[in-house]
Amino acid sequence: MPLTCLGIEGTAHSFGAGVVSDQGKVLSNVWDMLSPQEGGIHPREASRHHSDKGPDIIAKALTEAGIGPHDITLIAFSRGPGLGPCLRATATMARSLALKLEVPLVGVNHCVAHIEIGCLESGFKDPVTVYVSGGNTQVIAFAGNRFRTFGETLDIAIGNMLDVFGRTMGMRFPAGPAIEQEAMKGHRYYSLPYSVKGMDVSYSGMLTAARRLQTEHIPLPDLCFSIQETAFGMLAEVAERAIAHTKKGEVLLTGGVARNRRLGEILAGVAARHNARFHTVTPPLAGDQGAMIAWTGILQYTAGDRLSVAESYVLPKWRTDEQDITWRNLS
Ligand code: ATP
Ligand code: FE2
Repeated sequence: MPLTCLGIEGTAHSFGAGVVSDQGKVLSNVWDMLSPQEGGIHPREASRHHSDKGPDIIAKALTEAGIGPHDITLIAFSRGPGLGPCLRATATMARSLALKLEVPLVGVNHCVAHIEIGCLESGFKDPVTVYVSGGNTQVIAFAGNRFRTFGETLDIAIGNMLDVFGRTMGMRFPAGPAIEQEAMKGHRYYSLPYSVKGMDVSYSGMLTAARRLQTEHIPLPDLCFSIQETAFGMLAEVAERAIAHTKKGEVLLTGGVARNRRLGEILAGVAARHNARFHTVTPPLAGDQGAMIAWTGILQYTAGDRLSVAESYVLPKWRTDEQDITWRNLS
């Protein structure tokens, strides 16, 4: 029987619903992001946002896909990692829909979904993945049945670093896009702490230094330019080492920060030096959305994965490399 999967995503500040077919066709992908006027995201406020907006977003995803509830044959939801209250609000919607529609349920790892949607879009089979977002910064490659983390941040994620710096500058959350715009106008490089330790990166030192520089009346475009060049350079170094080590011929850039064109340009250069193909996920599939959950749900379900409602508790600390990837047999 052909599968039509509704994927529900709600690990952090965004709630999304997407419908994907087992042919990998994205039939709809609707989301809404909580963006407070000031300050960061409070988990309870975000979960309330999901409970309030979720039903309408799901209904819209069905309408845009041109289907009714009874055309859904599978429900996938983001089981983790993420903020506990947000995950629980999302899981509750997924469970009640699965019970009502009498269709199976699968729980998807959010980070794995960012990789799989990139593979669907690019046709890549086995990339080195640079996954960059507000909560994660990881260089990942598949080995021994799991997505192994070759390198990651030792402290804050790259997107979080950009958002916190932006908040200092009075920019609205999320600040990544505004910093990118400013950086395009900058040209002078101010030195910031460049911190690569083995295969890992660290962003908290450069955040502190950038905030200090900001008080020295350095033009904002130059400061944003310097932040981007330093932060992206660190990632490029780790990615390059992962490519050289694994000898994989594909490089994938995914996650919300993948929307940054300068980062794509730098990593494309790294991939080219190693004769690897390169792909950046397109903006609608870069951030948190339901289509990536739906597609990964289809892959898991097809490989035999099932999750009973009774067992469908959420996993706030579920790491990328903690899941057996049953649908890939490469190694
Ligand atoms: P995850 O749960 O995977 O960590 P997330 O909750 O942070 O994801 P995403 O939508 O994947 O959500 O990523 C959001 C991040 O992407 C924010 O930190 C935002 O500032 C950043 N971002 C968005 N656009 C850009 C851009 N053009 N340049 C840099 N960063 C960007
Ligand atoms: Fe994400």
